Amino acid sequence: MTDVLAAILARHSIGPRHLGPPGPTMDALMQIAAATAAAPDHGKLCPLRLVALPRETRPSLAAAFALAALETDPDANAGVVTQAKDRAMAGETLVAVIARILEDHAIPAHEQWISVGAGLQNALLTAASLGFGAKMVSGARLRTQAMRSAFALGPTEHLVGFIALGTPTEVPRPARRRPASEVLTVWTGT
Ligand SMILES: Cc1cc2nc3c(=O)[nH]c(=O)nc-3n(C[C@H](O)[C@H](O)[C@H](O)COP(=O)(O)O)c2cc1C
Repeated sequence: MTDVLAAILARHSIGPRHLGPPGPTMDALMQIAAATAAAPDHGKLCPLRLVALPRETRPSLAAAFALAALETDPDANAGVVTQAKDRAMAGETLVAVIARILEDHAIPAHEQWISVGAGLQNALLTAASLGFGAKMVSGARLRTQAMRSAFALGPTEHLVGFIALGTPTEVPRPARRRPASEVLTVWTGT
């Protein structure tokens, strides 16, 4: 087994609540960004960008989450809003994943999304190789105007989610994977 394959097979997500200090340094985040930029990208459209959220900006993110909770459900009670704010505070380091998808382009949207996914996977693998735990998280609230405004998204951009990063505070359960024989079949011709 190659080192790359071993790293891919060993990668597993660790939730934000189990990611403590230290988080990645700016240098480590730049390595993660470089790996993201190495994803296959048909037409070199660069459909993925990352935004690091310094810790001191978390209260501001929490405020945006509160607005998003109320936009999603104007009747949300104080408990729901507090829960939404708490989500913004979990995870030692957060990096927003933003996709820019050009509809009606010669490169179809699904290919652009696949490039985004490949970049995300590169980021997760790099985080693991640097010794950090990580998990991609998302949710319906990220598609609100409140979150779009908070991240100043352009008209073709989507806030896909956040990569939570940090040092694992617990030993995770081994990831369950489909057997290769379920993934790969052999075409027998027409
Ligand atoms: C774009 C994207 C968004 C996701 N959003 C969530 C989420 O909001 N909550 C969650 O529990 N898992 C979410 N997941 C799945 C986890 O990140 C993770 O992949 C899953 O728990 C399986 O763990 P594994 O990565 O160890 O296989 C998301 C995955 C992707 C690719």
